[in-house]
Amino acid sequence: MRVILLGAPGAGKGTVAKRLTALDGSVQISTGDILRGAVQAGTELGKKAKEYMERGDLVPDELILGIMEKRLQEPDCRKGFLLDGFPRTIPQAEALKQLLARLGIRLDMAVNIDVPREVIFDRLTTRRTCSNPQCQEIYNVKSKPPKMGGVCDKCGSPVVQRADETEEAIGKRLDIYNEKTAPLIDYYEKEGLLLNVRATDSDTVVEAIRKKLAA
Ligand code: AP5
Repeated sequence: MRVILLGAPGAGKGTVAKRLTALDGSVQISTGDILRGAVQAGTELGKKAKEYMERGDLVPDELILGIMEKRLQEPDCRKGFLLDGFPRTIPQAEALKQLLARLGIRLDMAVNIDVPREVIFDRLTTRRTCSNPQCQEIYNVKSKPPKMGGVCDKCGSPVVQRADETEEAIGKRLDIYNEKTAPLIDYYEKEGLLLNVRATDSDTVVEAIRKKLAA
């Protein structure tokens, strides 16, 4: 499948993407995970992205587009991909459209995971993430705590709270989402690609995507 996952921070894009990859081997591409990995590894990209991310601001479009142009041409994308956190602005969506046209790739759909703001705030303050950049498994202190203390069930690395999960940064990320990313819902509706799913459980979202792909 070739699917874009849209939704506010904490809507469950990462959670849904991981479940969908298990269905047919499509790869999850999370720009947030790529950037956090770069920050942790101290690469040039990481140095440039760090401050924006910790404040809850978007990283400049040029940096993201450079990453995605390369990433989408890697061999594992031939089976399909789930874009989690990209595009985030209209210029990113326009650039993606041109890139996919150049590569001869057709998108199946853009899914908007629509979750109420109060649910989102609660989820983000209780989320924990595996600190290993190759793993980044998602936990939640209420709904899915790691089995052994603060250690990842999958790889044994420490499970931590993200640097952009202070109340201030979360509020900023939600405001920026409304200003810069929410307009993509209209954009993909006009492109005839939008699937809107209002749901707080990820099973409902995965099922709606499966149904639409099969239709
Ligand atoms: P990014 O990592 O993409 O963060 P985000 O969009 O803010 O999304 P999240 O990862 O916070 O949430 P999610 O929707 O994936 O939810 P999850 O499944 O984890 O980006 C981080 C930063 O990088 C940005 O702020 C920006 O600076 C930069 N960046 C990234 N991409 C960029 C781009 N394209 N352009 C510019 N800058 C970019 O779930 C959240 C929580 O809810 C978890 O605790 C989970 O366990 C829980 N949960 C999920 N589903 C359920 C459910 N059904 N029931 C109960 N709990 C649930």
